[in-house]
Amino acid sequence: MFDLNVYIKEKKQLINDALLNIIDMDSTDRVTRAMLHSLMAGGKRLRPILCLAATEAVGGDPANSVCPACALEMIHTYSLIHDDLPAIDDDRLRRGKPTCHVAFDEATAILAGDALLTLAFQVLSSPPSINDLSPLKLLEVIHIISRAAGYQGMIEGQMQDISFEGKQLGLEQLKGLHKLKTGTLIEASIRTGAVLGDGSTQQIEQLGEYAKHIGLAFQVRDDILNVEGDPEVMGKAAGTDIDRGKNTFPALIGMEKSKAFAKKLVSDALQVLENFDTKADPLRAIASYIVDRKK
Ligand code: IPE
Ligand code: IPE
Ligand code: MG
Ligand code: MG
Repeated sequence: MFDLNVYIKEKKQLINDALLNIIDMDSTDRVTRAMLHSLMAGGKRLRPILCLAATEAVGGDPANSVCPACALEMIHTYSLIHDDLPAIDDDRLRRGKPTCHVAFDEATAILAGDALLTLAFQVLSSPPSINDLSPLKLLEVIHIISRAAGYQGMIEGQMQDISFEGKQLGLEQLKGLHKLKTGTLIEASIRTGAVLGDGSTQQIEQLGEYAKHIGLAFQVRDDILNVEGDPEVMGKAAGTDIDRGKNTFPALIGMEKSKAFAKKLVSDALQVLENFDTKADPLRAIASYIVDRKK
């Protein structure tokens, strides 16, 4: 019987060890300490775990995906550091610790974010991550990730999130915002894993569909937790979306409908995985976990 808790624990360890191999834990450089402060603060590592699970789902060796998975976590962490800045969400607690600009200062937090984003592409293109992979495959992955993280993906989502504060979006616009802000990087994580695992075109497309559903479900759950989650458990503040006039699912369609919508997205995601064998069990379990999670 597949045990998701054991799976997450093992993969988390793998990712954390790899991250600490990349960045010198003992560095006294200010920007390095700021990067480590946020990177090693105890995130769920969902994106790298999804990347490894997608490699497994198509029958590949997850060892080949560890470095790209670390790059995905670096991009995610950079996005959180910048998301928390006074100019964006102005949050003081993240991953159970003071946000980067609170622990250091704004300039250092901006630079630590910049450095993590750049390091991600250094890691993606460095020889240890290449291993036995074909350069073309690696180039494809770099393209997938850079497109998702940039102005046609996460950055545009962040721009919309800020621009529409205090203004009410329609349902389709809100879905679009959430897909860009959160969905694109989650989808890129899964596509990256599938490409690195040598998945067929059909498998990659199906996993891309799965990713679209769980990516949106993930942000809907984040909205829900911002209303009813426990800050102690989440390691970040609750109630902030309403305070800032953010567009969220609970604000637009109500709590019960938001929960039902997230569940529906998960059942759609599971349906897409129907043609996959038991090697996709981690992806199946993660889909359900996404709407049940408390942090
Ligand atoms: C938080 O992401 C930001 C969103 C995109 C909703 P996570 O909930 O994955 O945060 P960590 O990585 O566990 O801290
Ligand atoms: C964060 O979204 C998304 C990105 C950083 C791209 P939110 O602002 O909704 O997430 P939290 O609630 O601060 O983690
Ligand atoms: Mg935000
Ligand atoms: Mg935020």
